[in-house]
Amino acid sequence: MSESTVTTIGCIGAGYVGGPTCAVIALKCPDIRVHVVDMNAARVAQWNSDKLPVFEPGLDDIVKECRGRNLFFSTDVDAAIEEADLLFISVNTPTKTYGHGKGRAADLKYVESVARNIAKVARGNKIVVEKSTVPVKSAQSIADILKANRTSQNKFQVLSNPEFLAEGTAVRDLLCPDRILIGGEDSADGWRAIQTLCSIYRRWIPAERIITMNTWSSELSKLVANAFLAQRISAINAVSAVCEATGADVSEVARAVGQDGRIGPHFLQASVGFGGSCFQKDILNLVYICESLNLPEVAEFWLNVVSINDYQKQRFAKRIVNCLFNTVAGKRIAILGFAFKKNTGDTRESAAIYVSAHLLEEGARLTVYDPKVDPDQVIRDLRHVTGQPEAVRDQVEVCADPYEAARGAHALVICTEWDVFQTLDYRRIFAAMPKPAYVFDGRKILNHDELTKIGFEVETIGKRVRHVSSSHPAAITNGIGCGEPEPEAAAAAEADH
Ligand code: UDX
Ligand code: UDX
Repeated sequence: MSESTVTTIGCIGAGYVGGPTCAVIALKCPDIRVHVVDMNAARVAQWNSDKLPVFEPGLDDIVKECRGRNLFFSTDVDAAIEEADLLFISVNTPTKTYGHGKGRAADLKYVESVARNIAKVARGNKIVVEKSTVPVKSAQSIADILKANRTSQNKFQVLSNPEFLAEGTAVRDLLCPDRILIGGEDSADGWRAIQTLCSIYRRWIPAERIITMNTWSSELSKLVANAFLAQRISAINAVSAVCEATGADVSEVARAVGQDGRIGPHFLQASVGFGGSCFQKDILNLVYICESLNLPEVAEFWLNVVSINDYQKQRFAKRIVNCLFNTVAGKRIAILGFAFKKNTGDTRESAAIYVSAHLLEEGARLTVYDPKVDPDQVIRDLRHVTGQPEAVRDQVEVCADPYEAARGAHALVICTEWDVFQTLDYRRIFAAMPKPAYVFDGRKILNHDELTKIGFEVETIGKRVRHVSSSHPAAITNGIGCGEPEPEAAAAAEADH
């Protein structure tokens, strides 16, 4: 028995995952028709325009090459289901905001409604591929819905094929993935469906990078991969607090630790906290699964990864207020970067939102600049998180350039590691700020020595920066970094008096 031939692929959900994934499949399989559908007509219109709804380096060129040739975007969900041999489900699976499992469990209402729609419309043999990140055993639910609606005219196989693309590098991750994971039913039909999906990926991905396994291992692997990545960030962020209190530098510690081949150097960049649509959601989902399985200790272990992330965001925000003489009320503060990481316009769970909300709560006036985030999105996010639309209207200004955001600001707060922030004219910025002028580098991307020479007071994650000015409040009162006193700094302040 061998794989079957796929001539048409359908994808339901044209988001950050469905859109780029299908664009790359269309590029690599010019003989396969790829039809991406979404219930959101405005989003589909964007996919059919020159301004795609998702900013990803390299994506525009691929879409331009394939769109209208073998890549199509529409709202005609039923047509995509009818014509496809293989269907990806790429709809969102947000954390539940109601009922049992609220705040933890994944909300599968979209996945379920898509499965019901497939059951209603499909005729013939279909392979249904779960691409959205879902709780373990979701494929079984999809299969149950499909099988309950099976007729003599249709037959389904359900596979799990989680995505591992990271935003900002999605095209690279799709063209050259570390691995492709495919889980399927342990049966002859299941094996055949797995081989069919493998045959698509084998067109550009070496066979040894395509891993097959049972469905539940595949579903769980996706959650665990994200939990491990997030855990590393929380681990190094926890260490960053120790560094600030002791005078060690977290970058040096990360380098030393990462040199160990067993640990490796990746994902050890301390920051203001991880964001993005996946990490928190997937860990909470894992926590919920563990709680449901009566494994409270395991649930607690993973929950701490999220708690440390919340702590890191809060710690950074509080430090800004502490350093600005314990009050930011009425002070202008520039938030540089609002996306959850560079090279994306996505703000979901961005640390910038929480830092900004804390500063707004303290009465600050914020000027926000991000090279890719839509200004309306900034306002929407802040309204949503603060629940205070008037405060956001009165206290927040979204600026079109970083110099405008910085003008008159008491502090610059770097929340996203955009490359452009490394090459700004900081002398010009310094000249237009009241003194002392602060930089809070939440991403450790700036040249702190240079900034200090210009005259900035610099605060960063996981490191104490030596302040030139002995009038720096932290240098006098409680040591550098607004934390515990550093012996030399305390002695210097003493001598000055
Ligand atoms: C989503 C999930 O968040 C992630 O867990 C999963 O791994 C992949 O899918 P993403 O693509 O980033 O990630 O979500 P989003 O950008 O919100 O796109 C989902 C799209 O599905 C939206 O455009 C939405 O309109 C569409 N959708 C949702 C449908 O077309 N039909 C539905 O019933 C529900
Ligand atoms: C993640 C996974 O990497 C990807 O495999 C999965 O499919 C989806 O979730 P994404 O959220 O797009 O991708 O971006 P990622 O690069 O993982 O970054 C997540 C967050 O962690 C960002 O806020 C980033 O700035 C932060 N981060 C990352 C750190 O703070 N330090 C690091 O060392 C790495």
